[in-house]
Amino acid sequence: MDRIGLSLLFLFASTGCCVGSNILPTGPVDVILGNNVTINVLPAKTSDDIIIWGFSDGESSANVATLRPNGVNVNDRYKGRASVNSTNGYLTLTSLKSQDTGDYMLTILTGGGDTLTGKIKVRVLDPVSSVVITSDLPEAIEQNSTVVLTCSSKGSLLTFTWTNNSNPIVDDGKRLTLTNEQSSSKLTIKDVLRYDLVGPIVCTATNKLEKQSSAPFNLTVYYGPEDVIIKPSATSQYIPSKSDFNLTCSASSSPSATFTWFHDEKELKATGQVLTLKVIEEQGFGKNIGDYKCVAQNAKTKRAVPSAPVRFSVMGE
Ligand SMILES: *[C@@H]1O[C@H](CO)[C@@H](O)[C@H](O)[C@H]1NC(C)=O
Ligand SMILES: *[C@@H]1O[C@H](CO)[C@@H](O)[C@H](O)[C@H]1NC(C)=O
Ligand SMILES: *[C@@H]1O[C@H](CO)[C@@H](O)[C@H](O)[C@H]1NC(C)=O
Ligand SMILES: *[C@@H]1O[C@H](CO)[C@@H](O)[C@H](O)[C@H]1NC(C)=O
Ligand SMILES: *[C@@H]1O[C@H](CO)[C@@H](O)[C@H](O)[C@H]1NC(C)=O
Ligand SMILES: *[C@@H]1O[C@H](CO)[C@@H](O)[C@H](O)[C@H]1NC(C)=O
Repeated sequence: MDRIGLSLLFLFASTGCCVGSNILPTGPVDVILGNNVTINVLPAKTSDDIIIWGFSDGESSANVATLRPNGVNVNDRYKGRASVNSTNGYLTLTSLKSQDTGDYMLTILTGGGDTLTGKIKVRVLDPVSSVVITSDLPEAIEQNSTVVLTCSSKGSLLTFTWTNNSNPIVDDGKRLTLTNEQSSSKLTIKDVLRYDLVGPIVCTATNKLEKQSSAPFNLTVYYGPEDVIIKPSATSQYIPSKSDFNLTCSASSSPSATFTWFHDEKELKATGQVLTLKVIEEQGFGKNIGDYKCVAQNAKTKRAVPSAPVRFSVMGE
């Protein structure tokens, strides 16, 4: 290593650098892994200046290259990767590796006998990639489930944002909570509602240089039954025997509800959305006036909801 360079690096180490002169831009400079960086020198170089570039990763220091009026000397460690422009003294490093993260130190020994020093931080960032959303639950039950979505990504110095059908999702401190970690972000939705995760929900991971979004995510939230309505095909207290009469039951439910039927508290042997008078009469119901109702059931939410009663009796032939 260059003797002047070495002694000056020790000088940096002992004095803590940056002796008041602005000879380098303000850092940090962020660079994506594998890319190149050029560090500019602020003062214009004069022909008899000596320019010394050094590097410190916080644990050890090394000379990178030295530019003298008679030419550039690049440290073996940096051969083929570092160059110094002899006109302006700018340092260029190519194919940056993670280990290149650290402080780059510049010393200018001016022809006039002054020593100027400066330091700039360079951060080599891993590229942003593999941004994915995963759910802790494969499916959810409305009002019952707390769903935790995790967005994870590769890359360094990431920040995360979430959108719902392109609108930003914000932490409301109640039902929606966002927690960010170094390389992931969690969106917690308490007491999930049916439209919460129709989205599409997208997570974007960003660092200072790049951003990448996840594939759109949606999750089925099962709900209901609700609005269980029984509808007789004719509204009358008395229904003629063997007539084309039936009861239809409907409900709002996901997945679709299944139905059972009751005459007063007795269950009929019938399933399906429509109960015909034929079935009622075949099972011997209908002779006495009574309340008919349907019960809608949801296999996923395990909820069973009865309709209001419909009251009638069947008139003999
Ligand atoms: C880095 O510099 C080398 C040598 O000058 C060049 O071939 C390469 O294309 C540069 N890479 C990028 C990502 O600019
Ligand atoms: C060095 O810098 C000068 C002035 O900015 C520029 O014109 C020249 O192309 C650079 N040389 C190299 C090898 O990059
Ligand atoms: C997403 O948007 C829909 C429609 O505006 C809304 O009902 C739902 O609650 C939103 N979900 C989240 C997680 O913010
Ligand atoms: C998400 O939404 C798309 C389009 O609406 C649909 O095709 C897909 O099945 C949904 N996926 C889930 C898991 O619900
Ligand atoms: C129910 O009754 C209505 C009115 O009489 C009739 O149009 C319909 O076809 C009936 N449905 C069934 C499944 O029997
Ligand atoms: C929904 O929550 C209620 C009350 O905590 C519970 O009794 C019920 O079993 C839950 N349903 C499902 C399907 O988990």
